[in-house]
Amino acid sequence: MTLMFWNDSLVIGIEELDEHHKQLVSLLNSVYSNFTLGADKSGLSSIITELIRYTKYHFSAEEKWMKDHQYPGIEKHIEEHSRFYERVSRFQNDFAAGNALLTLDLFQFLQNWLTVHILNTDAAMGRFAREERLSAHQ
Ligand SMILES: [Fe+2]
Repeated sequence: MTLMFWNDSLVIGIEELDEHHKQLVSLLNSVYSNFTLGADKSGLSSIITELIRYTKYHFSAEEKWMKDHQYPGIEKHIEEHSRFYERVSRFQNDFAAGNALLTLDLFQFLQNWLTVHILNTDAAMGRFAREERLSAHQ
């Protein structure tokens, strides 16, 4: 089962980061389908670990992009990443310790966070990149 469908409104126009976002959606879907198919805790744990590892890699890539381009919204953006990352890694630890369960609410939260973050916070970076390209051609 698919939780989140990719669509072109999610494209921000920075190719490397768009590819990362597609990969994140695909990993999230893969956790979800394993969950709906009734995978056991260790199977779920390893795919959750993969999702979180990739999230960290992707956030670092975005943060590097913002530094390299002296992006003015960098602080607020990094803060959003940190808050989210803290929350999901806390869940990961709780899940591994047997103190938390995967729930539909959690999937809803993840899907919602990713969509809203891409459409607002990441898309603003995409607009900045476009303006930068335009002014370079003036
Ligand atoms: Fe981001």
